[in-house]
Order: sequence, then structure tokens, then C-alpha cells
Amino acid sequence: MTQAPVLPVPVITIDGPSGSGKGTISRLVARRLGWHYLDSGAIYRAVGLAAAWEGVDLADEAAVAACAARTRIRFDTGGDGEEPKVLVNDKDATHQLRMETAGAAASAIAALPAVRAALLQLQRDFRSAPGLVADGRDMGTVVFPEATVKVFLTASAEERARRRHKQLKDKGVSVTLAGLLGEIVARDERDASRAVAPLRPADDAVSIDSTAQPILAVVEQVLALLPEDLRARAQAASGRNN
Ligand code: DC
Repeated sequence: MTQAPVLPVPVITIDGPSGSGKGTISRLVARRLGWHYLDSGAIYRAVGLAAAWEGVDLADEAAVAACAARTRIRFDTGGDGEEPKVLVNDKDATHQLRMETAGAAASAIAALPAVRAALLQLQRDFRSAPGLVADGRDMGTVVFPEATVKVFLTASAEERARRRHKQLKDKGVSVTLAGLLGEIVARDERDASRAVAPLRPADDAVSIDSTAQPILAVVEQVLALLPEDLRARAQAASGRNN
């Protein structure tokens, strides 16, 4: 008797700069499909925060890599459409992790090769049935090079700053738009110019510019990239998940 081949768990990767809408779009795509979601940026942010809590020098590659290996990171999926809580070493760090200071610390430690190596398997372990939507900078190039669908999501720097500003304001964090724009441009520059796993589209990624598009239009574009059989499953799941 011939056995049916075991199909690999499908993965959609959504990479792009900060504020491109990756997080929101990835969460919605995952929800529509009934798939798991990996926010890889939250992992780098969590390690940056844990290192700061422990007084680890962020420039000391071996010390930060050791910190990455011992930091416990847990995502607690909230209710319908809610952002998941992120627990770092059992403390709820959701709010702190969204601050631009945490983004900058994440970007600094993310440039260290030993830190990226320490976090690679942890990210790959999120791949489980029925599928995974993973967002970050190197999901399509390094972490899941054989992903089913790869998207590179962009938006103008001004639009990205405006979105982050609104996001932070909604959370009661007061920052100036001009200051935020400067920080975002500096962070993108560092993420794109680092030697290891820089922010760049995979050769087989589809680029989508979200500057002037409603979120749901982008979600539909991403879903339309899926092969027919997976899309059919999505349709069946959307009946359950909407
Ligand atoms: O997506 P984010 O803004 O939460 O990511 C924070 C920082 O973490 C980002 O500036 C660079 C780093 N990062 C990375 O290097 N690789 C990833 N896959 C995700 C994030």
C-alpha cells in the first residue's frame, strides 16, 4: 500500500520595515486561515528588554546571546482580534515592548550574529499544523527560506511614522511625529545595512506597497497568493473565523 506523502506545514512570510503594517496584516491573515502567528520582532524586543533588566551590555555579543538562550518568552493569545500578551521571564511586558526604545534595543542586538543564531530554532518551532504566518525582517530569506508564499511589505516612511504614532497614541504613549520619523528611518537603515540577515526582500518574494491601501485589501492580496488548495481551506476556515 502506498502511503500519502506527508506535506510540509505551509508558511506565509511577511517581511518589511517597521510600521509597514506587517503585524496587523499577518495577524488578520493568520486569523482568516486559522493558522498560527509568529511575531519575530517581539522575540528580539523581548531579548533586548531581558538584557536591559539583567544589566547585560548590549554590545557584548556573547553575553547577549547567552541572555537570548535563557530568556523565557511566551505569547498569550488574547480574545478575538486582540493583540497577544507577551510574557518575558513570566512578566507581562506587552506595553513596554511596543515602545520605540524597545524597538531600538531589538534592532541593536539583532545585528549580532550569535544572537540571531541563538534565536533561530525558537522561531522555526512556531511552524506547526495547520500553518504559520511569520512576520519580521528575515522570515523569507533565512528562517523559512522554503515558505509557501513570501511577501515583502513596504509603505512610505512618512506613512509608517504616522501609523506608529497613532498606535502609540492609542496606547497612551506621547511622542512627536517628527521624532518618531527620525527614529524609524534610523532603525530601518540599521536593519537594512547590517551584515547578517539584513532587511531585504527574498528573491522570490512578492512586494506589496501598503501606503495607500486599506488593511483588508492587503489581506486579500496576500490570501490570493496562496495555491488554490490552501485558499479553499481558507474559505472553509473563514466561515468559522469571521
Ligand atoms: O518588527 P519589530 O519592529 O517589532 O522589530 C524590532 C526590531 O527587531 C527590528 O528593528 C529589527 C529586529 N528584527 C530582526 O532583526 N529580525 C526579525 N525577524 C524581526 C525583528
